[in-house]
Amino acid sequence: MSNITLHTLSARKQAGEKFAVLTAYDATFAHQVSSAGIEMILVGDSLGMVLQGQDSTLPVTVEEMAYHTASVARGNQGAMIMADLPFMSYATPEQAMESAATLMQAGAHIVKLEGGDWLCESVSLLAERGVPVCAHLGLTPQAVNKLGGYRVQGRDKHSALKMLEDAKRLEQAGASMLLLECVPSLLAEEITRNVDIPVIGIGAGPHTDAQVLVMHDMLGVTTGRIPKFVKNFMADADSVQEAFRQYGEQVRNGQFPAEEHGFE
Ligand code: KIV
Ligand code: NA
Repeated sequence: MSNITLHTLSARKQAGEKFAVLTAYDATFAHQVSSAGIEMILVGDSLGMVLQGQDSTLPVTVEEMAYHTASVARGNQGAMIMADLPFMSYATPEQAMESAATLMQAGAHIVKLEGGDWLCESVSLLAERGVPVCAHLGLTPQAVNKLGGYRVQGRDKHSALKMLEDAKRLEQAGASMLLLECVPSLLAEEITRNVDIPVIGIGAGPHTDAQVLVMHDMLGVTTGRIPKFVKNFMADADSVQEAFRQYGEQVRNGQFPAEEHGFE
């Protein structure tokens, strides 16, 4: 498989073809995920919870993200690698550039930051300097204390309109992708239609351009409650690699997620 780039994934959106994203945090799983044809690997700060056992993503540092990004890059077979900028590592545009430099030098191809239109200046500066950015909207777990818990966002008219406006502004500022977490399916569909950049969803219904899941969740390897938007791909697979392959296939052919995995 030749290397997946931003160009590949933008062309998929224009062609109306979906793509799959999965988290991985180490070389061996990165090898398996990319060999299974998953287009993009997310080195998510969810590693704070799934690998470190923290009860939020807030304790994760840039150095930890760089360590896992470098590990993933060594195992990767041609997928595009996205790495999360962790909590408070992009509070100012200067910090954003310094933190992004560390992750790009570790092997990321694109960085992800959480927030709305306040991110526009950082997004522009990064894009101008050659760093593609994905803006994460909706449920932004680094803001869990402000949000008052892990809850669906954009349910009322005001916050839905604000999210749509933020999405357009971030695209204008130079964002290369958007990620929507836990937003009503209809709102996610509306946002996806109103921007030209690829929109990745998680708990955002079936109408986004791409989907992402945390690997441990889709393998059924968890310690707690399974969110509604997760599907266990080990149920019909006889190997982990086959579960990854089926996930990619079901995202591309529109079988996953179904309406039942989304929110109204
Ligand atoms: O950290 C992560 O894994 C994420 C996804 C849940 C979108 O940001
Ligand atoms: Na994250």
